[in-house]
Amino acid sequence: MDGALSGLRFSLVGPGRVGASLAAWAQAKGARLVAVAGRTAGTLPPGLPPAVPLGDLDTASDDLLLLAVPDGALSVVAAGLARRPQARVVLHTSGSQGAAALAPFQPGSAVGALHPLKAFPRPLPDLAEAAGVFFALDGDPEAVALARRLVTAWGGVAAEVPAAARALYHLAASLAAGGVVTLLALAGELAGRLGLPPEVGRGYLELARGAIAAAGEADDPAAALTGPVARGDAGTFLSQVEGLRELAPEKVPLVLELARETLRQRERLGSLEEGQTALRREIEERLP
Ligand SMILES: NC(=O)c1ccc[n+]([C@@H]2O[C@H](COP(=O)([O-])OP(=O)(O)OC[C@H]3O[C@@H](n4cnc5c(N)ncnc54)[C@H](OP(=O)(O)O)[C@@H]3O)[C@@H](O)[C@H]2O)c1
Repeated sequence: MDGALSGLRFSLVGPGRVGASLAAWAQAKGARLVAVAGRTAGTLPPGLPPAVPLGDLDTASDDLLLLAVPDGALSVVAAGLARRPQARVVLHTSGSQGAAALAPFQPGSAVGALHPLKAFPRPLPDLAEAAGVFFALDGDPEAVALARRLVTAWGGVAAEVPAAARALYHLAASLAAGGVVTLLALAGELAGRLGLPPEVGRGYLELARGAIAAAGEADDPAAALTGPVARGDAGTFLSQVEGLRELAPEKVPLVLELARETLRQRERLGSLEEGQTALRREIEERLP
């Protein structure tokens, strides 16, 4: 076992998808998990010590108390735990809230946020899952320093995302993940409504993979935009929109808005060419 976190004592509240994963990663790097508490004892994933009732949790001699409870439970759990002295540093894993959600622990503990920008559909205890993951940090200097130490040990990437920016940072994260998947589902739905075989839906998935890979290689994702709108091919795009009006009129406003946004993103990189400007005018005339 690599000991980048050896000597670190920590406890976990909320051994769910995120909590069990981060705890396993910390243990894989030599940290010692002292105690785990949750709402119910439940069945804990392997590698976690038996859960103790929340009211019995005493982390005063720990370096870290990690709270990985649902966003809505954070303030109640923090208020309850803060009645007793807790660990030197307390961190939560919510993306939408800053360190202030843990204010009840101050001044006894340094508080911070450690948000993994990753989807955890289930516990992901293999440390390889952490490689390259971005973590948004916020909070007191001592808490941010410990969070950075964890992220470095896990092979992730960390940067501070201050409290004031966190709500929209989280919204943008939903666009990057759920938004892309929504569009993929919509593309598949259209293929289904056209009576096309299911292979077409898989084809869209492969196409999306290639587009995301190209966006990742570009200096700015907008430089990797392709398709009739990005090219300013008004004839092709507007006839497609008319076809959509027949098949699925409820989707026309979204498609026009997306096209307008494609041109806005393209314009961020430099002025639009004549065809692109003309297409933008056509789109704006069709939007309410
Ligand atoms: N899942 C993701 O993809 C993801 C990604 C990044 C960040 N996050 C954030 O990470 C945090 C945890 O999310 P999660 O997805 O890991 O949630 P989760 O799988 O539902 O796990 C939540 C854990 O908290 C416990 N819990 C719930 N209410 C509690 C309470 N009132 N008191 C004490 N423990 C309580 C649950 O225990 P029971 O099982 O007994 O209810 C469970 O162990 C959230 O802030 C979430 O926004 C989630």
